[in-house]
Amino acid sequence: MYTPQAGIFALGTSSHAYLEFDILDSKKSDGKKSNDKSKDFASTISSIREPRTTTGGVNFVIGFRPELWRDLVPEDAPPGVEGFNNEIRGVEGFVMPGTQHDAVVWLSGSAHDVLFDMARSILRDLAGQASLADETSSWPYRHDRDLTGFIDGTENPSLLDAPAAALLPEGVPGAAGSILLLQKWKHKVSEWEALPVQQQEAIMGRTKPDSVELENKPSDSHVARTDQDEFGHIFRRNMPYGTIEDHGTMFVGFSADQKRLSRMLDSMAGLVTGKRDALTRFTQPLTGSYYFVPSIESLRRLR
Ligand code: HEM
Repeated sequence: MYTPQAGIFALGTSSHAYLEFDILDSKKSDGKKSNDKSKDFASTISSIREPRTTTGGVNFVIGFRPELWRDLVPEDAPPGVEGFNNEIRGVEGFVMPGTQHDAVVWLSGSAHDVLFDMARSILRDLAGQASLADETSSWPYRHDRDLTGFIDGTENPSLLDAPAAALLPEGVPGAAGSILLLQKWKHKVSEWEALPVQQQEAIMGRTKPDSVELENKPSDSHVARTDQDEFGHIFRRNMPYGTIEDHGTMFVGFSADQKRLSRMLDSMAGLVTGKRDALTRFTQPLTGSYYFVPSIESLRRLR
C-alpha cells in the first residue's frame, strides 16, 4: 500500500509558493556523470524537512520532470508520461508555451513568513546543485474565487473522491503518485473587467455570484471546453497570484492520467472541436510544466 504526498489534499491554507528548479550543469563539467548530479539533487530535494510542531507547520509537495523521474526510479515511473516539451499551437494563433523545469516544490501554510523561511532553507540546501528557475507566491481571494471573480473549484471532486481522480491506482508503476500540470495564466485585467457580468458568465458557463452552471452554456465556454464527463476527472488546486495590476491564476491540476490534462489543454486551444475556449481570449498562459509527484515511499527511497 503506497501513500500519496499529503500536501496534494491539504485544503484551506492561506499562503502558497511554487518553486521550480533546474539541475545545474548537467553537462558533467567536473567529471561527474550527469546521472550522478541528478541523483545527488534528488537525494537533497527528497530530504527536505518541514518545520514540525503540533500547532503550525508547512505542507509541501515535490514533483519531478517525468523523464528525470524515469531515469531516477524507472520501476516506479508510469509509462508514457512526458514533460511539457513542446508549445501547444492552437487555432487563431493562440499558443500555450512549454517552460518545463526539472522539479517543483509547492509549499503551503498558514502564513507567508513560514513559507519564506522554508523556501530560503530549501534554496540553501540546493545551492550548487540546482537553480531556482521560477517562483510564484499565491494567496486565496475572497475565500474560493479566482481573480476573474468567479468561484473556482465547484466541480472539483470531494476529498473522498479526489484520490481516485488524482492518484495512480495500487498495483501499477507510480502507484499513489500523481501527474501535476502547473501553468501560470496572466489575466487581461482591463479587457475582462470591461465586460458586463452576463458576458463573463457566458464565457465561464456558470453564474458569477453562486457558480450555477448555465442551462444553455455556449459550446466555447470554459466549462464546456473542459467538461470532465468528456475528458475525465481531475483535482484542481488553483490559486490567484500577482500584483494589483499584473495578476492571474496559477493552474494547479492533479490527475491519475496525463491524457485528461493534455486533452483539456488541446480542447481549450481549439484543437479538439475547432472551437477555442472563450476564456483564453482574456487570459494568457505564461508557463507550462508537467511534474510526476511520486508517493512518499518512492520519495523516501531517494534520500
Ligand atoms: C486562467 C485560467 C483558469 C481559470 C481562471 C479557470 C477558472 C475556472 C472556473 C471559474 C471554473 C468553474 C467552476 C469550477 O468547476 O471550478 C472552472 C472549471 C474547470 N476548469 Fe478551469 N480555469 C482556468 C484554467 C483551466 C485549465 C488550464 C484547465 C485544464 C487543464 C481547467 C480545467 C477546468 C475543469 C476540469 C473545470 C470543471 C469543468 C466541469 O464542469 O467538469 N481550467 N475553471
